[in-house]
Amino acid sequence: MKNIQKIQLGHHGPQVSKLGLGCMRMSSVWGGPTPDQNESIATIQQALDNGINFLNTGDFYGAGHNEMLVGKAIKGRRDDAFISVKFGAIFHNGQWLGLDLRPIAIKNFINYSLTRLGIDTIDLYQPCRMDNSVPVADIIGTVAELIKEGKVRYLGVSEITTDQLREANSVYPVSALEIGYSLADRQIENDLLPVAKELGIAIVTFANTAEGLLTGEMKAPLAETDYHTHFSRFQGDNLVRNLEKVEVLKQLARDKGFTPAQIAIAWVNAQGPDFMPLVSMSKRSRLPENMAAMDIAFTADEMYTLNTTFAPGAILGETYLRR
Ligand SMILES: NC(=O)c1ccc[n+]([C@@H]2O[C@H](COP(=O)([O-])OP(=O)(O)OC[C@H]3O[C@@H](n4cnc5c(N)ncnc54)[C@H](OP(=O)(O)O)[C@@H]3O)[C@@H](O)[C@H]2O)c1
Repeated sequence: MKNIQKIQLGHHGPQVSKLGLGCMRMSSVWGGPTPDQNESIATIQQALDNGINFLNTGDFYGAGHNEMLVGKAIKGRRDDAFISVKFGAIFHNGQWLGLDLRPIAIKNFINYSLTRLGIDTIDLYQPCRMDNSVPVADIIGTVAELIKEGKVRYLGVSEITTDQLREANSVYPVSALEIGYSLADRQIENDLLPVAKELGIAIVTFANTAEGLLTGEMKAPLAETDYHTHFSRFQGDNLVRNLEKVEVLKQLARDKGFTPAQIAIAWVNAQGPDFMPLVSMSKRSRLPENMAAMDIAFTADEMYTLNTTFAPGAILGETYLRR
């Protein structure tokens, strides 16, 4: 097994792999086909074989499909995996309907999750968003009760404001903040990141490739049927200008002998020992490439090039990440 880098989740939290495996895209979340299930399970198992133990799912990813998939993959090897679960989103037929974070709902969700995953305890349990109709203290207090009951080990949060993060942490220590962050989306640097650092909370970052923009594989214009075209970042002149920035990333990747996606993941990883790139991989073939990204180091000049080309706000247009 490769000696994979580790990260500590929160002041008193556990050590887990610094590269996280995002399982969301192994299920159909927004409608559309479900990827090959056998390949998805094999990917999770190969990740575990390589010491990537942080697995991320949500009870609403494919209406429980994703948790059942993860459950199958970890059967017989529970101790190899650290399971992170989000809850609270309500979907119907691939449509987001809203949130349900009432304590009574959370107490219902957890038991279904445990059954689908086939485990007794969820390692990291996190509301997927906060909901103005339920006080933060009630949401976090309910997870704290579940921790006392032994159904959950650690508290995480996701897509939250700084005030909510402080309040959550005052109710119960938050181990990890799951948040969208990449070269293309750096808005949290001014608000959430300093607070998370102050409170000793690990940063678990998703959308490291900015929905594929930073893979270097995107070409303008996108097909009208491509879901990216719902967001202004991927439309018309915005996309053309954004892809000009990506050319700089591609050149730097070529010069270093890596792929643009590897450089994008490595840039997040390089932000510090408290950053975990949480990367979607639905095929085993992705694993060697993304694991290798964790060993990439940058010179000061390379960092300067990346940080100035992708300065906060440099990428034009909106995505679902805008908050
Ligand atoms: N908290 C939240 O609100 C939230 C929101 C979104 C996602 N998440 C979590 O974060 C995880 C990651 O998020 P994400 O899927 O949005 O972003 P991502 O990790 O940037 O993945 C986007 C796409 O990049 C592809 N990819 C992975 N490695 C690649 C490589 N080396 N070269 C080219 N393409 C590559 C993946 O393809 P394949 O699938 O084909 O391998 C995936 O479809 C999810 O699985 C989920 O667990 C959380």
